[in-house]
Amino acid sequence: MTVDCRQASTSGGVQTSRMPDREIPDPRDPRGLRADAPLLDAWLRFTERAQPGELTPMSVPGHKQRQDLVGPVVAGDAPLYGGLDTIKHADVLRAEGEARAARLWGADWCRFSVAGSTHGNQALALAVGSPGQEIIVTRILHRSLLLGLVLAGLRPVWVRPEMDPASGLPGAVAVDTVRAALEAHPRACAVFLGEPSYVGTIGDLAGHAAAAHEAGVPLVVDAAWAAHLGFHPDLPPHAIAAGADAMVTSAHKALPAYTQGALVLARTGRLDPARLDRAFEATHTTSPTGSIMASIDAARALLARDGKDLCARLLRAVAAAKQRLRQVPGLGVLDGPGVESAKLVVLLAGTGAHGIAVEADLIAAGMPVEMADRDTVVPIVTIADDEDQVAAFTQTLVAAVERHRGPPRHPAPAAAWTVVPETVLAPREAFFAPNKTVPADAAVGRVSAELIAPYPPGVPVLAPGELITATALNALREVRADGGRIAYAADPTLATLQVVAG
Ligand SMILES: Cc1ncc(COP(=O)(O)O)c(C=O)c1O
Repeated sequence: MTVDCRQASTSGGVQTSRMPDREIPDPRDPRGLRADAPLLDAWLRFTERAQPGELTPMSVPGHKQRQDLVGPVVAGDAPLYGGLDTIKHADVLRAEGEARAARLWGADWCRFSVAGSTHGNQALALAVGSPGQEIIVTRILHRSLLLGLVLAGLRPVWVRPEMDPASGLPGAVAVDTVRAALEAHPRACAVFLGEPSYVGTIGDLAGHAAAAHEAGVPLVVDAAWAAHLGFHPDLPPHAIAAGADAMVTSAHKALPAYTQGALVLARTGRLDPARLDRAFEATHTTSPTGSIMASIDAARALLARDGKDLCARLLRAVAAAKQRLRQVPGLGVLDGPGVESAKLVVLLAGTGAHGIAVEADLIAAGMPVEMADRDTVVPIVTIADDEDQVAAFTQTLVAAVERHRGPPRHPAPAAAWTVVPETVLAPREAFFAPNKTVPADAAVGRVSAELIAPYPPGVPVLAPGELITATALNALREVRADGGRIAYAADPTLATLQVVAG
């Protein structure tokens, strides 16, 4: 039997023929992106029928597009499979959206993830090596990548960034550091770096790519915060343009996409596309939300068309904020050639104000920031912010700093940036090893079974397989005492820790 599959598709896989030619902007597509965004177009068409109750879906999601049960919390939810297109055809649509993103970033493989850069990092870890192989990894990695090493059974060879003594913040990992690691570990399967770092510091990615390629291995980059890089001449190139073989980036961080949306991009050659697909699918949901996928597609179309202008506005807004903040006695901003120019990182030590108190005032003013610890505040400014909003935020921040002024102090580098781990067991071995819970002081000198990270930034201070030192424990205790969030610990009070038994 043959089935005419195309007739069963709601989109026919060819989106442009159905796109309405509207002269009046559609309020649901205010910038007219749908003509270049097939997933967005499909979402608009689906929800146009679903919202007035024209559909009677006998498929998931179980809310059946009704809002009289749990309310509008499910409004706009459309599955990729069976929503944006029929279950049997949505892959064609998905592939079309992903191919457009691949072209924009100069990659030849791309997948849209509805599970953040967390999933992307884990997919790439699963794609680059085999269990037991070594991999050169930055130690200021996000916890998601560490769990990627657990999943893939890779053994990390840590490389550490240079530290900036003036700010107590990490710079980039030096190319020579990676070269030395590659020489000392010739069987390593890849180099996996985080660029830009959480605080926007950037290094020589082209140099890293050359070093990795000379050693015959791919360079993979966690660029979670950097989906806008490469879209304005005053911004650094993105990782793929700099020569990386793969990168992951959160569309929901730097771009106006739905929370959880991320892109995984690769230039195949050193990486096998089929293996990349297998690795990606291994831990991705079988029911991706079409709304998230469509928002990634829309953000990509926006970046392609208006990215340069929007990035120019972002750069102006951040430059003005930096200029204003520098006028405040004692207040600093992270800046210079090694810092991504759209990043705003505020240095408080010279004002004596405590970051957690400043953050509380900002939350009370309806302006929550991404990260605050004693010495640093990291607001996230994106292409969605206009200059007035950023200026208003800057004024509120300055007022909060003035309210909490105190004697100036030296910045104390956060535990996340300074940890020098002693890896006793591979992360995977420790993750699966029998473990027991012991009082924290008795855990010093034992091997950690758990990952513990102050969040943000989500960089593990203790990871499975690492020796628990008094320094690491005290650093975690200080974060907690200071009001920081201790994430992923079985006991977030840090009274007990989980150690490898035996
Ligand atoms: C460097 C880095 N990589 C990956 C992630 C994970 O991103 P997501 O929240 O999109 O899963 C984060 C999250 O903050 C991060 O900071």
